[in-house]
Amino acid sequence: MVDMLKGEKAIITGSAQGIGKAIAMKFASEGADVMIVDLDADKAAETKKEINDKYPNVKVAVVAGRDTGDITKWGNCEKMAEVAKSELGGCTILINNAGLTLDKPVHTLSEQWWDIILNVILVGSFNMTKAVVPLMKEQKYGKIWNVSSVAGIGGNAAQINYSSAKAGLVGLTKASARELASDNIAVNVVGFGAVWTRLIQPHEEVEILGQKMQQMKAMAGQSKDSAMGLYKSSIPMCKHRDTPLMPEDVANWFCALCTKEAHYFTGQWMIYSGGMAI
Ligand SMILES: NC(=O)c1ccc[n+]([C@@H]2O[C@H](COP(=O)([O-])OP(=O)(O)OC[C@H]3O[C@@H](n4cnc5c(N)ncnc54)[C@H](O)[C@@H]3O)[C@@H](O)[C@H]2O)c1
Repeated sequence: MVDMLKGEKAIITGSAQGIGKAIAMKFASEGADVMIVDLDADKAAETKKEINDKYPNVKVAVVAGRDTGDITKWGNCEKMAEVAKSELGGCTILINNAGLTLDKPVHTLSEQWWDIILNVILVGSFNMTKAVVPLMKEQKYGKIWNVSSVAGIGGNAAQINYSSAKAGLVGLTKASARELASDNIAVNVVGFGAVWTRLIQPHEEVEILGQKMQQMKAMAGQSKDSAMGLYKSSIPMCKHRDTPLMPEDVANWFCALCTKEAHYFTGQWMIYSGGMAI
């Protein structure tokens, strides 16, 4: 399919890599102009280049780096909306995707790690929503998708901060959907199960916002192959596939739900997990 999203202007947070990058690539392949927002300026520049090389007719704006791309800072988000207006001509789709995990059992979880996760996932999504809504109101059209997790409905041990923030996105979504429907702005939330990105793979320690992102306990000491096997064997629909859910699968799903045809859909909490949460 081509041009399913022609004319759309999409801001995707956390789009230098992983799920966000796959969404930006897919949206561009379907004709949407995109804005890449991320803490990681180098990876964001690589993503922009890849999109420019493959889809030269699409506009790509970038706001990235520790100083300007951090969605936890309101001033940055306000600026991102200005850049969307000046470089893309507005914003019709916002995907609040940026996120991370910093896992510890509750009695050892520091106030700082609680704050970081709540700030990135919940406050960051609020900041971005607040920043782009005036553009969407002007156009009398917009779609906002908040990216949650199965942890937001079932909870995950040693992820009290992450589970709380992801559950909070449901409230943010439902209240925004009720408030913004009169301006033809749809707001929904999706909870993913396991998607094969660095977040759930065995990884080298990665630093985000000055903190070392923690390895998931179940992945410690595993090779990538055995980790992939673990997901394949533990997720019901995975046994019919060669791999767990890949970022590109998620991007295809988003693309279908971000078309104008799917606009009469708002305030909903969906789970896309291959049966991991039923
Ligand atoms: N991978 C999974 O299995 C899975 C499952 C459920 C939900 N999710 C959610 O999907 C989203 C994307 O995750 P992913 O797996 O692609 O992870 P990822 O680590 O590959 O990508 C996340 C991106 O977000 C960026 N980011 C983090 N904090 C930011 C901030 N303050 N400002 C701007 N950018 C920031 C990071 O730099 C990174 O590029 C996250 O919200 C995550 O919680 C992932």
